Amino acid sequence: MKVVICSKEKMDRLVAKEFIDMVKKKPNAVLGFATGTSPLGVYKNLIEANKKGIVSFKDCTSFNLDEYVGLAGNHPQSYRYFMDHALFDEIDIKKENTYVPSGVGDYHKGMKEYDALIKGVGGIDIQILGIGSDGHIAFNEPGTPFDSYTHETALAPSTIKDNSRLFSSIDEVPTHAVTMGLKSIMEAKKIVLIATGKNKAKAIYGLLKGPITEELPCSILQKHPDVTVYCDEDAYSLVK
Ligand code: GLP
Repeated sequence: MKVVICSKEKMDRLVAKEFIDMVKKKPNAVLGFATGTSPLGVYKNLIEANKKGIVSFKDCTSFNLDEYVGLAGNHPQSYRYFMDHALFDEIDIKKENTYVPSGVGDYHKGMKEYDALIKGVGGIDIQILGIGSDGHIAFNEPGTPFDSYTHETALAPSTIKDNSRLFSSIDEVPTHAVTMGLKSIMEAKKIVLIATGKNKAKAIYGLLKGPITEELPCSILQKHPDVTVYCDEDAYSLVK
């Protein structure tokens, strides 16, 4: 695993460059996107590069990691809504080529087809990940089997608490989500993970130094051949 320690501004630029380089090399690249506050700066850089004509996403396909169960795509806290506003509506990617798991209606059907859909377009070329304070990636909470594909999961109480900052009250945070599994994520050809702040320090320590255990979902990334972890000093503080 490659580790880059730098400021948030610098990692936003560097990670955006990894995506831009990929799309320049492969204009129909399959891009894996994440929600949360961590990737927002990267998305701003991608929007800027697209508007300046440095890169075009018109032939790209994208897959998002996860979605809350019970929130339709027009709900302001849904991950579809988040992605539309944070990125898709601002770049030239075709909306019909942007996939976010559904958490409403017959979502079990879509969930079962999600990995086949990814494989059908040749797999994810580059996947961005944030990380939860408990070491979750996407919504794969501690205890998730390493061989999991896209599935429904119950959110850990700590995740509900962490994510409640984006809702008006903790009672509004959905208790379940549809998430790509750890195996789905491990099948991405290239992975970049970004982490900032002291509340990620324990998870980053486990990711870089700890044993590979289902109790720390991110630890499986140690087995992936092409992962770069971007951390700020705070997130890296327990490793030193
Ligand atoms: C949610 C998402 C994760 C994300 C995490 C961290 O739980 N499902 O994909 O990595 O939040 O969010 P943030 O980047 O806001 O700290």
